[in-house]
Formats: sequence, C-alpha cells, structure tokens
Amino acid sequence: DDDVDENLRLKYRYLDLRKGKMQRNLRFRHAVAKVTRDYFDEQGFTEVETPVLIKPTPEGARDYLVPSRVNPGAFYALPQSPQMYKQLLMASGTDRYIQIVKCFRDEDLRADRQPEFTQVDLEMSFVDEDDVIAVQEGYLKRVFKDVMGIEIETPFPRFSHKEAMERFGSDKPDTRFGFELVCLSEAVKDSAFPVFSGAVAAGGDVRGVKIDGGAAAFSRKDIDKLQEAVKVFGAKGLAWIKWAADGQFSSSVGKFFTEPELLRLTELFSGKPGDLFLMVADESKTVFDSLGFLRREIAGRMGLLRDDVYKLLWVVDFPLLEYDGEAGRYTAVHHPFTAPNPADVALLDTEPGAVRALAYDIILNGVELGGGSIRIHDRALQAKMFRVLGMTAEDAESKFGFLLEAFRYGVPPHGGLAYGLDRLVMLLLGEQSIREVIAFPKNQTAVCPVSGAPGAVEPAQLEELSLHRVVTP
Ligand code: AMO
Ligand code: AMP
Repeated sequence: DDDVDENLRLKYRYLDLRKGKMQRNLRFRHAVAKVTRDYFDEQGFTEVETPVLIKPTPEGARDYLVPSRVNPGAFYALPQSPQMYKQLLMASGTDRYIQIVKCFRDEDLRADRQPEFTQVDLEMSFVDEDDVIAVQEGYLKRVFKDVMGIEIETPFPRFSHKEAMERFGSDKPDTRFGFELVCLSEAVKDSAFPVFSGAVAAGGDVRGVKIDGGAAAFSRKDIDKLQEAVKVFGAKGLAWIKWAADGQFSSSVGKFFTEPELLRLTELFSGKPGDLFLMVADESKTVFDSLGFLRREIAGRMGLLRDDVYKLLWVVDFPLLEYDGEAGRYTAVHHPFTAPNPADVALLDTEPGAVRALAYDIILNGVELGGGSIRIHDRALQAKMFRVLGMTAEDAESKFGFLLEAFRYGVPPHGGLAYGLDRLVMLLLGEQSIREVIAFPKNQTAVCPVSGAPGAVEPAQLEELSLHRVVTP
C-alpha cells in the first residue's frame, strides 16, 4: 500500500522497491548518472577513484571514524568529500577530474540530507569562475534535454550573495514566484513604533514582503500561526498591514501609524487593494531568515511551488569567512581552500568578514544543488588562510601539511564544484525527499531500517581494534 508509514516502507524496502514508481526512480537515477559520465567524458574529464579511508576533511560536518587495527589508537575518517585528493590530482596534471562518489557526513538528518550521499565531484585546472560555470551550464542543459526532454536556457542568472539576501532573504533563492523583500528601514527609522525605530537605531533592519491578494486569503489566525513559525528564526513578532479589496486598512501596528503613513508604507511595496504586507524588525540575519522562510512557506500554501517549473541560478560572491561568536574566531563559509577575491586580499588582515570568496552555488528551485570555488594555489596564501582561521602553524602542518607540500612542487590554478546527485534526481522527479531516489536510505536516526545497522560488535573485535567499551553510570 502506498499510504503507509514511511518507516514500514523502509523496513521492507525490497518490497517497496517493487512498485512501478520506485523502479522508475531507480532507472531515472541511472539515466542521470549515465548522461553525467557521457557529458564529462566528451568534455575531456577523467573519472578517478579517491580513497575512502582518509584523514579528516574540513567540510564542517562531523566525521564518521574508522578505527585502525594495525595502528592502535589511530582512526581513519570517511570522506565528507574528496576535496583534498581532487586538488592533489590537479597538482599531478590530471587537468579535468570527475567522480561520482559516496560522501559521509555525521550531521542532523533532513528531507534533503543523508549521512551517506552521492556527489558528482569535479575539478579543473587553469580555470576561472566563468570557465567552471560555463562547463556546468552545458552539463545541466544536457541533463535536462536528455533525461527530461526539456530545453533550458543558458546562461543562468547570477546573483551576488548580497543581492540574494536582500531580494529573497536567502542564499538559495527560489525564483518560481515573487514576494521579494522590501527594505523599510529608511522609511520607519523615525516612526512612532518603538520596535521599528529601535531596530534601525540598533543597526538592524526593518523589511517586509507583499503577498499579492493575501488580504482575504490570510485570516488573523493564519497570521498568528506565521508569527509563531518565524519565532524559530529569532523574530520577536510579525507586524502586518491588510489593504482590503474595498480600500480599508487594518494593521497590527495601526495604533502607531496614521492611515496616510500606512498608505506610504504600502507604496514602498508597490501594493494595491487586496494585498497583505508582513514586516519584521530585528538584526539583519533574523530579518532575512524570517522573511526568506515566510515567502516560501506562503508560496507553498498558495500553490505557487510548481514542480514542473525549473528555476536554475548561481549565487556568487559569498563571504569567505564568518565569525563564530562561540568559538571566538572566523570559520570558512565554504572550506579553507577557497580563494579570496583578489581585490579583497588586503582585507584579510584588517576586516576578514568583508572578504568575498571566489565561491559559487548552483540553486534549483530554492534548493542548493551544488557548490564550489576557485581554490588557493599559492602556498603562502593558503598558510595565511589557515592562520586567519585560528590554526597554529603546527595544526595546519599536521592536518594539511601534505597538501601544502604538494603545492611546493607546482600546482596550476584550479577550481571545481560538487553536486548532490541525490538532490538533483529528487528535484527532477518532483520528489519531496532524497529517500525516494536512494535504494536503501537511512532513517531519521541514521539507522538502516532493512538491516538494522549500526549494530553492536563482539568484545573480542573491540579488543583487536584497541577500543574499550566505556560504560558511564
Ligand atoms: P558541499 O559541502 O557544498 O561542497 O557539498 C556539495 C553538495 O553535496 C550535497 N550534499 C548533500 N546531499 C545529501 N546529504 C547530505 N548530507 C549532503 N551534504 C551535501 C549538496 C551540496 O551542494 N568539496 C566541496 C565541493 C567543492 O568545493 O568542489 C563540497 O563538498 O547538494
Ligand atoms: P505589540 O505592540 O507588542 O502588541 O506589537 C504590535 C505588533 O508588532 C504585533 O503584530 C507584533 O507581532 C509586532 N511586532 C512586535 N515585535 C516585532 C518585531 N521585532 N518585528 C516585527 N513586528 C513586531
């Protein structure tokens, strides 16, 4: 039966896979993988297998560790990505590398995340950002044509990270619908509503979205629910204005604004009778996260998230670093091998948070399909990057010394990217979860429901691996 709990389907996956739809999904995935190999082969790429038992890679998630029997107390990590090996391949003269490869990340699971997943991983020598992007647009065009029979237009739109945040409240904008963000800070900085004027005075923002035709579609109760939902992102409230079709205004902040003032606010949104306006005042991140979530949530409720429309775009000019208040240092937004924009290198010493990266993400319908960057190929700059990330020279040497050493022998300028193959196939099939396109996925607690993995092992096996069972009281 289709209409059963997913856990039951996953436990008897071999029966679930007998269904026509699931067999179709497996065939479809195979077809995407085949086009991928064909296209990159024609473009002069070589598929190279990289090791699975490796040193930890710095992709920012937790590693899966494998104890070494012959080296007591030492561990391998399963790759979060083949990042360092593909860069070493560029130093070896491979020139154009591809691999369809399993990656492992011990992170919290969601509909579009699995502990083991598949990347289409790529790297190219002697390229800049435009070169990488051109090859990838050719690839996606081919996938759409060959497996979907759809002609998509290239080049895809490119948004800077800043523009993506300001217009869509997200670094993975969904452009299948409107509801773009509008900045109200300037207009409300002296307003009588202390929450609005206070947010601006504190260096934050007041921004909003206009929901066309939303005045009648959303009751106060609906808006209360939306207000609850944005609290997850730190928003302390959700102010609204309704401009009813008959011209009447109502607003949760009506006592702080005269009607002409409300009208002026709606003008900033290019509003019209019948529209609903939702506003959040807070520090920028909270405002973006809240409104970015709202526009997609509301679009979903209004049936605007069509799965037969494919909006592909690039987000570029990401910040290189972000400050981690808890750790008291900067961390890499992408990974530590991503090159800073040459125009911003001087800022590494003075204003690290303002340095832009030569990094790019490919977005399909609001989902991050893949991401990559131009890499640092200069040893001194790479060493400096490790310093900025708060690593001592010894730290950097013990973790990445082999890469820095390889660079001493000469390495071409290089860059690449990796797609999540599961996500690509999911989106093309219009599925809501990558579990629908993986033969034997893990469940929400990272368990394989068919086999029950992970499982206990014999004490003798632990002994052999020099591991001890620690029982905490
Ligand atoms: P990144 O970490 O962005 O980049 O990963 C690339 C793509 O892999 C997919 N992905 C996942 N899919 C399913 N489950 C997961 N847990 C998961 N995590 C990531 C996403 C993501 O966009 N080495 C770099 C790439 C590079 O710089 O070339 C990397 O791994 O679709
Ligand atoms: P109050 O005067 O506290 O009842 O708030 C009036 C309206 O402002 C309510 O709709 C609140 O949800 C809204 N509100 C409160 N704080 C914020 C905020 N930080 N951003 C946007 N709206 C807010």
